[in-house]
Amino acid sequence: MAPVPTSPSSSSTVSPRLLHSNSSEWNAVVQRNIKTSLLLLLVLSTIFVFSVLYSSRRLGSTAAEEVLTQSPLVWDLDVSSRLVPGEEEQIDELIVPAESKVAPEQSSPSDISLPSANLSSAPTAPTPSTSAEGTGDQSVVGVQVEERCDMSAGKWVREPKGPVYTNLTCPTLPDFKNCQKYGKDPGHLFWRWQTDGCDLPRFSPERFLDVVRGKRLAFIGDSLARNQMESLLCLLSQAETPTDVYRDAFDKFRTWHFAAHNFTLMAMWTEFYAHGVPVLDAEGKPTASFDIHLDRLNTNWTSRLPGLDYAVISGGNWFFRVNYLWEGGRRVGCVNCREANLTDFGIVHAVRRVARAALEAIARCRDCKGSLVTFLRTYTPDHFEHGSWFSGGYCNRTQPLEEGEISLESIGWELRRAQSEEVARVRETTGSRRFGVLDVTKAMMLRADGHPGKHYDKRWVRNASDCLHWCLPGPVDMWNDVLLQRLAQISPPPPPLVR
Ligand SMILES: *[C@@H]1O[C@H](CO)[C@@H](O)[C@H](O)[C@H]1NC(C)=O
Ligand SMILES: *[C@@H]1O[C@H](CO)[C@@H](O)[C@H](O)[C@H]1NC(C)=O
Ligand SMILES: *[C@@H]1O[C@H](CO)[C@@H](O)[C@H](O)[C@H]1NC(C)=O
Ligand SMILES: *[C@@H]1O[C@H](CO)[C@@H](O)[C@H](O)[C@H]1NC(C)=O
Ligand SMILES: *[C@@H]1O[C@H](CO)[C@@H](O)[C@H](O)[C@H]1NC(C)=O
Ligand SMILES: *[C@@H]1O[C@H](CO)[C@@H](O)[C@H](O)[C@H]1NC(C)=O
Ligand SMILES: *[C@@H]1O[C@H](CO)[C@@H](O)[C@H](O)[C@H]1NC(C)=O
Repeated sequence: MAPVPTSPSSSSTVSPRLLHSNSSEWNAVVQRNIKTSLLLLLVLSTIFVFSVLYSSRRLGSTAAEEVLTQSPLVWDLDVSSRLVPGEEEQIDELIVPAESKVAPEQSSPSDISLPSANLSSAPTAPTPSTSAEGTGDQSVVGVQVEERCDMSAGKWVREPKGPVYTNLTCPTLPDFKNCQKYGKDPGHLFWRWQTDGCDLPRFSPERFLDVVRGKRLAFIGDSLARNQMESLLCLLSQAETPTDVYRDAFDKFRTWHFAAHNFTLMAMWTEFYAHGVPVLDAEGKPTASFDIHLDRLNTNWTSRLPGLDYAVISGGNWFFRVNYLWEGGRRVGCVNCREANLTDFGIVHAVRRVARAALEAIARCRDCKGSLVTFLRTYTPDHFEHGSWFSGGYCNRTQPLEEGEISLESIGWELRRAQSEEVARVRETTGSRRFGVLDVTKAMMLRADGHPGKHYDKRWVRNASDCLHWCLPGPVDMWNDVLLQRLAQISPPPPPLVR
């Protein structure tokens, strides 16, 4: 009952690395047709909206060292609902929203409640993942996610071979991530993640498709989840051309099929995992803020869980705006608000809570496959320097940062810790070993050179940089290198151990 969230400081010890990395994201696919142009327009104009929002909110310009410690929003695909008063006109000058088709996904989107979300319980300490083998009950299902190699630790080393695909060999590469087309220095392409304790092999599309034959995998989250999805589509299309089989009216849910391998790849959009609704202004128009109901889940994604074999969740970037936290029908606090009578629980706490809600929802999903394996891809930061989206911020580095240039005391690192602790927690509370972490935070902290920056089509958005999302090809492809290793380890299930 007590609406007192866990304080971030309760998890202050630096946990050993117990993560893995992988993630995914996607967006619209370039299909050389009108839909594509409209979609591009929509997405880029949304960047514009956010840029405006954030440039006015961020606290002045950011020093180069601080850049790595901050991270703002992610663009939304839904332009019309995220404007703050007074900005509609600017947007209308840039775009004509292409939202003609209005077809709500859910006929009855009643929300699931999370009965035992416990605000006062402290996060559990990470469990050593190797010592806690299941006693056999879980292994009936056959899958145990154990990390055989810590792929989160390593360094970027030169890779003369360059990426697995190019903008000429990936038909689904979105224009707004096609950095080479818009003149980005190619230097960022010639690096690979060298893990400290083991090898992370070059991505093999054939191997991946072999591992996921007959399976269904979903990337669930925001635009960075889509970024990974887009990367995976490009990587896999080197072996088999996917078919676009489903897209909802807002392009928030997307399904691709690789027929020769009967592999289904899905993207599911959710900013918060919990139920979030835009806060309305006095005129009833949505503002940039959300009311996040921590004890209710967004059914748009939970209703699509049944049938999945693999889920990759992520999140975090939407918590850098002013949001309000609700529980038990009451507003219990906020994130980033400056209202005297409201408790600001902080970004880390909010991200921890939605990670917990998402993991519990999956653990409790009765209609899901018993063999469903879930990975949480950890947070990745932006790299704006000297400003933000529209306040002159840029990211024009041409090689990875040095280890000494990143801060392991940044909020990004705290978010990673909270997320990985929540995975350890759900493993402990449910006894299930079907949850793992794809820990890409450190690797991506180093890649200030991997964002589009100013290298996208300027017809749609003028004078803005994107230092949050990742170029394709680019360092984000590494998330799928890691995902492949993790999936290969659990599929097919290892033969049961004789005890
Ligand atoms: C909720 O938290 C309280 C205080 O930490 C604890 O006593 C209680 O057992 C918890 N309940 C659940 C369901 O976790
Ligand atoms: C692909 O990238 C090259 C630069 O490497 C660029 O010149 C070309 O226009 C791009 N082509 C497409 C179709 O994006
Ligand atoms: C393809 O995979 C789905 C599960 O994703 C399965 O239900 C279906 O039977 C498979 N089809 C074939 C032809 O193997
Ligand atoms: C669920 O999806 C529909 C259609 O995309 C959207 O209008 C609605 O706002 C979503 N619900 C939540 C809680 O995000
Ligand atoms: C906080 O104060 C404002 C202004 O005094 C008031 O309108 C609002 O209802 C208060 N909120 C809470 C949660 O008490
Ligand atoms: C672009 O943004 C910068 C920083 O806000 C500003 O100084 C400059 O005047 C802008 N340029 C144009 C052409 O709007
Ligand atoms: C990056 O941009 C800044 C500001 O425009 C400029 O001063 C700097 O020289 C640029 N660096 C590179 C490597 O292009």
